[in-house]
Amino acid sequence: MTKHPTSEQLEITQGLCQSPAKISPKYFYDTNGSALFEEITRLQAYYPTRTEAAIMARHAQEIAGSIGANRMLIELGAGNCQKAKVLCELINPTHFVAVDISEAFLQEAVAAMRLAFPHIRIEAIASDLTAEVVLPASLPAQGRLVFYPGSSIGNFDPPHALALLSRMRGLLQDDGAMLIGVDLVKNQTVLNAAYDDDAGVTAAFNLNILNHVNRLIGSNFDTAQWLHRAFFNPEQLRIEMHLQAKTDLLVRWTGGTRRFDAGERIHTENSYKYRIEDFVALLTRAGFSQTQVWTDDQDWFAVVLAKP
Ligand SMILES: C[S@@+](CC[C@H](N)C(=O)[O-])C[C@H]1O[C@@H](n2cnc3c(N)ncnc32)[C@H](O)[C@@H]1O
Repeated sequence: MTKHPTSEQLEITQGLCQSPAKISPKYFYDTNGSALFEEITRLQAYYPTRTEAAIMARHAQEIAGSIGANRMLIELGAGNCQKAKVLCELINPTHFVAVDISEAFLQEAVAAMRLAFPHIRIEAIASDLTAEVVLPASLPAQGRLVFYPGSSIGNFDPPHALALLSRMRGLLQDDGAMLIGVDLVKNQTVLNAAYDDDAGVTAAFNLNILNHVNRLIGSNFDTAQWLHRAFFNPEQLRIEMHLQAKTDLLVRWTGGTRRFDAGERIHTENSYKYRIEDFVALLTRAGFSQTQVWTDDQDWFAVVLAKP
């Protein structure tokens, strides 16, 4: 690490020195992490992606009608842009702006989008949406549709989710709208299996955060010394993911160390599950007064269109 650590390095090392230690889930997403997440979305146990896609397909015409024409589509946490591709086919926006923290993966996905939609003006913004997302000044303020699928909102605890939703509202004029996917409270066996699959893909995704952190802070985490732990916390209505030390360990980085006892954990992710009425109430507090909700037959997932 240089003499003056970056804000990223400070955030990570401060989190590691806390008790319990934590690493923000945004550090899952180096290029390997983004590819592993894509693999997760294809797992039978991981129901959110296919359930959200099925809701969008089943109610496509009604969703498109409510969104309206001539939209400027802004996707937050765009990943492989597969969901935006479906939405672009459905609503034919004038612009598509993809925002994601995982820059190389984003650029590749956006290049594919440009080939698929040569008539749409497409921009990639590599940015951390927990900080301010600055859109190019040339983009029109009118007609914006913010798209935030995949229940990524669940990675934020309720006060931070409210703050993020309020910032999204701030990107919109009165004619703006937000289409957001949210995972709902359900049977714990289904939830636990989705975040701890038998093939070990989610385990590989969770452990990969240590490789990314090694590159960012110059640490010597060895993934072989850690176990993936994921479980539903019924008091907090959230899945928690942790990494658990197999033995007593000393982790070093330039400028610091952290001792971990065997069994001690690093908290890497929360994924909050909502009751639909609680999520709509959160949207109202964030400044969205009109909402339309579509769910699947089992009420496992909801797609919500929210307007000011
Ligand atoms: C759970 S994945 C969802 C991907 C895709 N939207 C989907 O629904 O399948 C979360 C996405 O958000 C991105 N991401 C995570 N934290 C972020 C942050 N703080 N700022 C910007 N993008 C972030 C990741 O790189 C990843 O592509």
